[in-house]
Amino acid sequence: MNPIKHRILLGAQWGDEGKGKVVDHLSAEADWVIRFQGGNNAGHSLWVNGKKTVLHLIPSGILHPHTTCIIGEGVVMDPGVLIKEITQLQEANVFKKASDRIKISERTHVILPIHRGIDVARESKAKGTKAHIGTTGRGIGPAYETKALRRGIRVIDLFDGAHYSEKVEMMMAEYAHHFTREELGELKSQSVIDLEYWKKIFEPMLIDTTSYLKGGEAQGKKMLFEGAQGVMLDQDHGTYPYVTSSFTTSPSAGIGAAYPKVTRAAKVVGVAKAYVTRVGSGPFPTEMLGKHVEGEEKRGEEIRKVGQEFGATTGRPRRIGWQDLVALKYAVDVAGIDEIALMKGDVLSGMGDFKVCVGYQKQDGSLWKTYPANADELLKMTPQYETFPGWKKATPEDPHYQKYINYVEQFLGVPVTFIGYGPERDAMIVRDGKRLGHEA
Ligand code: IMP
Repeated sequence: MNPIKHRILLGAQWGDEGKGKVVDHLSAEADWVIRFQGGNNAGHSLWVNGKKTVLHLIPSGILHPHTTCIIGEGVVMDPGVLIKEITQLQEANVFKKASDRIKISERTHVILPIHRGIDVARESKAKGTKAHIGTTGRGIGPAYETKALRRGIRVIDLFDGAHYSEKVEMMMAEYAHHFTREELGELKSQSVIDLEYWKKIFEPMLIDTTSYLKGGEAQGKKMLFEGAQGVMLDQDHGTYPYVTSSFTTSPSAGIGAAYPKVTRAAKVVGVAKAYVTRVGSGPFPTEMLGKHVEGEEKRGEEIRKVGQEFGATTGRPRRIGWQDLVALKYAVDVAGIDEIALMKGDVLSGMGDFKVCVGYQKQDGSLWKTYPANADELLKMTPQYETFPGWKKATPEDPHYQKYINYVEQFLGVPVTFIGYGPERDAMIVRDGKRLGHEA
């Protein structure tokens, strides 16, 4: 029996590490699965009763019939997206009554058409400049922005029509300069929707998260806190400004799920791929661009194809790079990661030698072993690599993969506890976390 009660699961790179599969595995043991940050910029492709379903907001743990899924107040929630996902899951017979399985904090901020409008307008204006972030266009940044500006609208505000309209007006006034009068009018009419319909759907799901989780703790519920995006996209600690607008490290679970007593006691799993991907702009020193090795661009394309490295939310092709252990070690330290889930080694099976970045060389020849805060500085440095012989099978039985795992563990100082070795649901090995650097 697993003695660990609660877990926080984080992406340890730039998102898209294969968290969905680890969540699926861990939710088999969890009673409650809780999202604490981000919004529908996340995306997990899941197979539900033979049908592909992509979830962006509802925790992927929903597929285990015994779980209750909670959307905490650190999340920004697009009501239309949530309703669509609920309908899809109802049609796939995952549940009948949504409120039996899904709870939402009454303090969760909502994403309205104006947020999406601002996101898209800003990004298209910034195209081709350094200000272009490459966002998912889902209105995530502007929703966190209105929250910090104290002009945001929370789920609880949706149920009083006059109060809601007043709040929409106040929010719009802050952003009037972005739009023409006609555009503003259109965004406003899209925002003043059928509140009665929303009320009917959302009201039965509302919870006061703190008392709900406290109650769950008293009942002995096992909780899994499902992070979205990844540590390197964290607003404080990521590759700023090419980051998302929420906090993706483990303390964020205590804030966004409103009950830190439980999250403080949780084990933190950081999910990483055997290689690295990112979408959107931002520094990526180990990107396979043929800058350092002839032919590596082709290898990148092969990895993208075999690993299906296209965004689940936007369909964008992901940028591909060699493993960057300096970035991963930084993520382990800054996010409080206790153990690593190493995914998608199988994508590299049979592809030949594989490189791992273990430091960066500065222009003056000195070696830099920590992740630099300054993106321009980082781009001037040259990654220093160790080369590993390729493996046939991405499991510890293959001595070459075992060698790679050992190296990763020694470098990071935390064990690799989960190994994903194929796309199937059960293609995952769980190792004894205490045996750092040894075969389980
Ligand atoms: P935003 O979160 O839509 O504002 O996008 C900000 C940055 O985070 C962009 O580079 C996005 O590509 C990236 N991003 C946001 N969500 C995800 C995700 O779930 N996986 C990978 N990258 C993401």
